[in-house]
Amino acid sequence: MSKSKSPECLDLENLLGITEELNHIKDIDSLLDHILHNARQFCKAEAGSIFLREKDHLIFSYVQNDMLVKREKNYNKRIYDKFTIPINRESIAGYVADTGKALKIDDVYIINDTVPYSFNSSFDEMSSYRTKSILTIPLITSRDNITGVIQIINPQLGDDVTIFTDLHSQYVTFLANNASVAIERAQMTREIILRMIRMAELRDPKETGAHVNRVGAYSIEIYQRIAQKRGDSPETIRHTKDHLRIAAMLHDVGKVAISDSILKKPARLDDDEFTIMQTHCASGADLFDGNVSELDLLSARIALTHHEKFDGSGYPNALEGGQIPLPGRIVALADVYDALISKRVYKEEWPDEEVLKYITDQSGIHFDPEVVEAFFDVHEVLKAVGKRYPD
Ligand SMILES: [Fe+2]
Ligand SMILES: [Fe+2]
Repeated sequence: MSKSKSPECLDLENLLGITEELNHIKDIDSLLDHILHNARQFCKAEAGSIFLREKDHLIFSYVQNDMLVKREKNYNKRIYDKFTIPINRESIAGYVADTGKALKIDDVYIINDTVPYSFNSSFDEMSSYRTKSILTIPLITSRDNITGVIQIINPQLGDDVTIFTDLHSQYVTFLANNASVAIERAQMTREIILRMIRMAELRDPKETGAHVNRVGAYSIEIYQRIAQKRGDSPETIRHTKDHLRIAAMLHDVGKVAISDSILKKPARLDDDEFTIMQTHCASGADLFDGNVSELDLLSARIALTHHEKFDGSGYPNALEGGQIPLPGRIVALADVYDALISKRVYKEEWPDEEVLKYITDQSGIHFDPEVVEAFFDVHEVLKAVGKRYPD
């Protein structure tokens, strides 16, 4: 498919500004969130999702739905749903990924039989949502690779659902073309981070890709809840989440500096060994030395403070309460929560009630009460994260 030029009737400056913004986002999930938000805002559309390609399948990768957000307390659970669609001409998204052609459908429940694709109504049935108009656009990179599809649903005119216009189509196509390269870059960043984690995992088998993916996602969900309660702006929240997920994933990379005799010791560490073990915090922070970017600064801060405890009994600096930066207080809980609910070589997973009781008991001792409160608010969402990234 040829690249579309920016339609003259669109606000070119605004579009260029958005493209510029996309190029500054590092985390893949933040990027998808941003792209969908912008596309939906232009079309005044109620919902949308992005599917990314993996070999011959599309992976459901991000979703937004304003109507369901209002109706469902734990709406964010849906972001972590994981399902795939084969790339073939039977489904709408599959057709667009297969042909590279955009589709604009006015009513998915009235699709004539001359086309090969049909609408899968199972999501509507499950969620009592009514999909009507769908705009589906391929995400195509400069090398003509299809990296996925973006689907925008139900544009609004006043309180009613209307149909997509050609202008909507042109805008989302322009955005999609410019977003594809940013998506490829953000996917690469995630891959590089997971490779760094794999290096750390060679030393400490507890630090797996699945564990850090979960800790990253728990951290942003807890953070978002705290920030919303504090009344922070949506822009601040989006921006912070972009860095926080990556930095949280890297909390333990400092373990690469600890010797195997300590990391893999099958028994309890003695005092001297534990002192050496504690240096993984400072070693981790050193990896991000130079502090050239906001992400470096945050990664260093989390690496250094994720073992501090709220009552001042943690390490390496025995900081207490508000002396511990908020991201460190959040990752402290996310990391321990994941260790408790996971099976490890030295322990079984704890039952849910015991985990929740432990966290309640440790509020004000190990954990920040504000973080504990947010944790309980989003607990259902955290369970969905666990399902998305199983061991
Ligand atoms: Fe650690
Ligand atoms: Fe960890």
